[in-house]
Amino acid sequence: MWDLYAPFYDLFTSAIPDRVRQAYVDALRLSPADRLLIIGIGTGQDIPLLPESVLIGIDLSSAMLARAARRLRFSPRLRGGLALMDAHDLGFPDASFDRVLLPLVVAVAAEPRVLLREAARACRKGGLVVMFDKFRPAGSPPSLPRRTLNLFSRTLATDITLDPAELVRGLPLRLLSDEPAFLGRQFRILAYEKT
Ligand SMILES: C[S@@+](CC[C@H](N)C(=O)[O-])C[C@H]1O[C@@H](n2cnc3c(N)ncnc32)[C@H](O)[C@@H]1O
Repeated sequence: MWDLYAPFYDLFTSAIPDRVRQAYVDALRLSPADRLLIIGIGTGQDIPLLPESVLIGIDLSSAMLARAARRLRFSPRLRGGLALMDAHDLGFPDASFDRVLLPLVVAVAAEPRVLLREAARACRKGGLVVMFDKFRPAGSPPSLPRRTLNLFSRTLATDITLDPAELVRGLPLRLLSDEPAFLGRQFRILAYEKT
């Protein structure tokens, strides 16, 4: 599905302002020596915003990755590379990264909780895991209109009924911040420390 979306993806997502992406890049608090994993890097729209660091970007779609590779070629301050990989089963040893970013990928994944478990596993203790995605309001079950709309949005791409607190329950992740990012609190940026 993402291979099919790839040629149009940047157009679809052009409504998301750079300041939103910049806010979650800032939440990563990157230093030049940090190893950063971006899960579901897509066409690499975050690449031009990243400061000097060691970037590994993974995605399940080769068409999306081909576009990210073009952006990476024009970003000499980033060392690292891209890999075709399923985020449900990351091919990295435990604690391989200082920072893990999940931008708009948790809510499109088949098993969002497995994605977060893998993200936490790949992050070193004391490192940061940051996600940017659309979530339902905290503290209540999904409303009937939201569940109905979800039937369509889930088929096209994305779940809109997820609660991040449920996704990270029991994982070694301590919530540092939970900020509204776009369309009120529909899209949020959550930063966690790996404990
Ligand atoms: C909504 S796009 C987000 C792309 C990019 N992160 C952004 O912010 O624009 C979701 C991306 O996640 C990728 N993806 C979906 N499921 C995945 C999985 N299981 N493993 C790796 N990537 C996945 C898709 O191929 C797609 O590129």
